[in-house]
Amino acid sequence: MTNASGVYHEPVMLGEVLESLVVHPGNRYIDCTLGDGGHAAAISEASMPGGRLLGMDADPEAITASRDRLERYGDVVTLVHANFATLGQIAREQGFVPAHGVLLDLGLSSRQLDAEERGFSFQRNGPLDMRFNPAEGVPAATLVNERSEEDLANLIYQLGQEPRSRRIARAIVINRPVATAQQLAEIVRRASGYRRGRTHPATRTFQALRMAVNQELANLETVLLQVTGVLAHGGRLVTIAYHSLEDRLVKRFLASDEELRPVHKRVLKPTPEEVSRNRRSRSARIRVAERM
Ligand SMILES: C[S@@+](CC[C@H](N)C(=O)[O-])C[C@H]1O[C@@H](n2cnc3c(N)ncnc32)[C@H](O)[C@@H]1O
Repeated sequence: MTNASGVYHEPVMLGEVLESLVVHPGNRYIDCTLGDGGHAAAISEASMPGGRLLGMDADPEAITASRDRLERYGDVVTLVHANFATLGQIAREQGFVPAHGVLLDLGLSSRQLDAEERGFSFQRNGPLDMRFNPAEGVPAATLVNERSEEDLANLIYQLGQEPRSRRIARAIVINRPVATAQQLAEIVRRASGYRRGRTHPATRTFQALRMAVNQELANLETVLLQVTGVLAHGGRLVTIAYHSLEDRLVKRFLASDEELRPVHKRVLKPTPEEVSRNRRSRSARIRVAERM
């Protein structure tokens, strides 16, 4: 589904991101989660003349989509297909150290969610894959069909914060093999006993599987440890988390790191206007830190 401007993914809290990164002409910025290139386009624009943007994404399709969109910025933009867990190495190789700003807009893009064959959405009937990089790791179907009932229950409880994880895991194991996203969604819906409200009963289970498949918390921890090695003094780190576990991880990291100072006491949240325009922004939480 594209929006009115023909773009898949609407960049979340764009004004707040630009302001928090303090984008100046001539400076260097790194977007670790390119997605559809919405934030990257605005950063590139604001850093001209003379600025540069390094964009990375684990998903090769995000690189392709952004390449078209960012073509008009020419040499300003460098795109690399990579996991942000390798931020330090990529930034050095591409001549982006020290950088004036690093952006992490976590999770998945609307393009990924909408692509049936990727298996991210319980509303589509694609194979259960859910890998950001389809060439790395194992698909969600492998976890669902091969993990023990106890492992699945723990995973759904911990990463999905799903209180009914045990009965969901039990139903999954009884109904194996599970091949498609819709099949899994239906198993979870029946087992959970939740009524269909504004959020689908399988939302938390799908989120847990996606986070496990892509090792999202581990990668976030790894990249955070590399940020100070990449940022210039006075440079900014901006994170957008959509999940309380991710946000907590960032918050704790910033509290413990001696070189990064949180810029605001509280997280930044989207305005009600943005939430009504773009529902996927509703859980966004921005944290900003400055390298001392
Ligand atoms: C919320 S979207 C970013 C949207 C983007 N800011 C925009 O304006 O279009 C998150 C992106 O991060 C990517 N991603 C998630 N984990 C990653 C990782 N460990 N390394 C690199 N990219 C990752 C996903 O593939 C996805 O494209």
